Amino acid sequence: MKILKDKNIVLGVSGGIAAYKAPELLRILQKAGAKVRVVMTKNARDFISPLTFEALCGHKVLFDLFDGSYTSAIGHIDLAKDCDAAVIAPATANVIGKLANGIADDALTTFMLAAKGRKILCPAMNEAMYENAAVKRNIMKLEADDYIIMEPSEGELACKTKGKGRLADCDKIADGICEALTTKDLIWKKILVTAGPTREFIDPVRFISNPSSGKMGYAIAAAAKKRGGNVVLVSGPTYLEHPEGVKFIKVVSANQMADTTFINAPDADIIIKAAAVSDYRAEKFFEHKLKKGLADKVSLSFCKNTDILKEIGLNKKKEQILIGFAAETEDLEKNAFKKLKEKNLDIIIGNIVGKPGSGFEADTNKAVLFFKSGKKKVLPVMDKGELADIILSRCLTL
Ligand SMILES: Cc1cc2nc3c(=O)[nH]c(=O)nc-3n(C[C@H](O)[C@H](O)[C@H](O)COP(=O)(O)O)c2cc1C
Repeated sequence: MKILKDKNIVLGVSGGIAAYKAPELLRILQKAGAKVRVVMTKNARDFISPLTFEALCGHKVLFDLFDGSYTSAIGHIDLAKDCDAAVIAPATANVIGKLANGIADDALTTFMLAAKGRKILCPAMNEAMYENAAVKRNIMKLEADDYIIMEPSEGELACKTKGKGRLADCDKIADGICEALTTKDLIWKKILVTAGPTREFIDPVRFISNPSSGKMGYAIAAAAKKRGGNVVLVSGPTYLEHPEGVKFIKVVSANQMADTTFINAPDADIIIKAAAVSDYRAEKFFEHKLKKGLADKVSLSFCKNTDILKEIGLNKKKEQILIGFAAETEDLEKNAFKKLKEKNLDIIIGNIVGKPGSGFEADTNKAVLFFKSGKKKVLPVMDKGELADIILSRCLTL
């Protein structure tokens, strides 16, 4: 969301039931630091009052092309000149049809034809309307004209039917705007990311694992996707929703993670191993649940799992970039440099687990980047999304 800071965003609102959700989107964009102006269709005023938007954004809403009391006589052109992104949420079938055919007969459509920045439409309508051949055709035309379409979601619609037509979630729309504004510096690059913990089952109901939430790896995958990368995310079990538009492969054990990673690694340009893979697995898997029995003590024997990072490092091609993580409880620098050398990494991201604002389940991380050259960069506590972007930018400088 950092990219939204100080960006000029124009929020267009047209006459559909979901217009009541537009103020929520406005607030999300404002919270991220964007300067938001609103343009409405006249029909949208039957669903929500311009006053709501005026109170929230502190500016007059443009809905009448010929209203001389707006900032200037040609308010739609003024807005269009400085606009970084224009997003219509909700976009009615009517507005979609007009834009697809270059019709500019009101403030919103006239503004859209003049707007310079990225243009994003968020259709919301009854399912039958969304499936209508003319609407589909118009959406395809607009995609060809470089409009970004944020697909509606499925669920119960205002008309009491179920289907695809609900306005996309406001957080997703905000994410889509961020993606639209992000420089596509990873285009044509394949980025393989591993994330989350692995589970090594002992019997059908017990396993050994670790508290990795997967947040760091998922943040890297999301950031790489936003920057235009072709992303493969191999993940152990997590409770996270995977980023849209990435190839998502779910695994459970270290062995499965190894197999999947080895299949996807050879043609990857950048490989980032953020998964917390179990070093050992139980030597024997018990087919049935182990019973408590009479013994006070039990011991299990473990055997070594494949060292995925080391294997990839051994087979790494000259032009590939390999990045690993070192979560340590002591001697971070010494351990990180040792791992970097042993596994033929380009960068290792080290962090001390157990410190506030850092490590396994936190939304933030306090990391130190260690480089092959022997240099290091100590970073402050930051959001995992922000750290993900720093890591990817570093990859591009290598
Ligand atoms: C109660 C009601 C709800 C409506 N909801 C939608 C809707 O969700 N999506 C849509 O495309 N049209 C919807 N319409 C139809 C539009 O309001 C209509 O096509 C109108 O001309 C759109 O005007 P505008 O695109 O200039 O805002 C609805 C109409 C009514 C009366």
